[in-house]
Amino acid sequence: MKPLIVANWKCNPQTLEEAKLIFDAVKDIKDGEVIICPPFIYLSALRANGAQDAFWEDGGAYTGAIAPTMLKNLGVTHVIVGHSERRKYFKEKNEVIEKKIDALLACGLKPILCIDKLSQLPKNLDQEAIIAYEPLFAIGTGKACGLDKAEAMRVAIQRATGDKNKILYGGSVNARNAKDYICQAGFQGLLVGGASLNPEEFIDIVKNVCYC
Ligand code: PGA
Repeated sequence: MKPLIVANWKCNPQTLEEAKLIFDAVKDIKDGEVIICPPFIYLSALRANGAQDAFWEDGGAYTGAIAPTMLKNLGVTHVIVGHSERRKYFKEKNEVIEKKIDALLACGLKPILCIDKLSQLPKNLDQEAIIAYEPLFAIGTGKACGLDKAEAMRVAIQRATGDKNKILYGGSVNARNAKDYICQAGFQGLLVGGASLNPEEFIDIVKNVCYC
């Protein structure tokens, strides 16, 4: 099985021109299965396959919200939910995240659920869920999680959710450490933040994890 590598651009870059430069440099990566999640505003111009969030209703009077069906209709296949930055800055709780997961599954989109502890695993995950273990101390800090701790969490998540799920690691992944999470700690993919904005580094990450 090819590793799943998810690029989370977060609130970057600041112009569509820059977004196109990054996207064009990485969109034809052949190795691995790559999902690129730019900000909503660039999705239709880039025709990217991933989004960073979605609302739980399919339309209506919800100012500022983006419905799962809108994403589906643009060709998006995967949507990140429950990222720690959504939990922290937008006060999202498990309850809301579970509603989002239901809405995404109902319209045929694959949620990529981010957690940093087992208590964040919702009840409504389907059998082929994608769960990213993202320890808070490792996100955007340059201090990636130790392999033993990461592997122990992967095993615990797998035990709690079943063998069919894909478990990704996220948190300060770079071209040097990427491979170890797949080949040593046994993850099925990676969620890459900062390093995904640097096309050369991102391409190296994908290449390194596919040939270990
Ligand atoms: P990072 O972010 O790779 O910049 O640490 C990962 C994430 O938040 O998804």
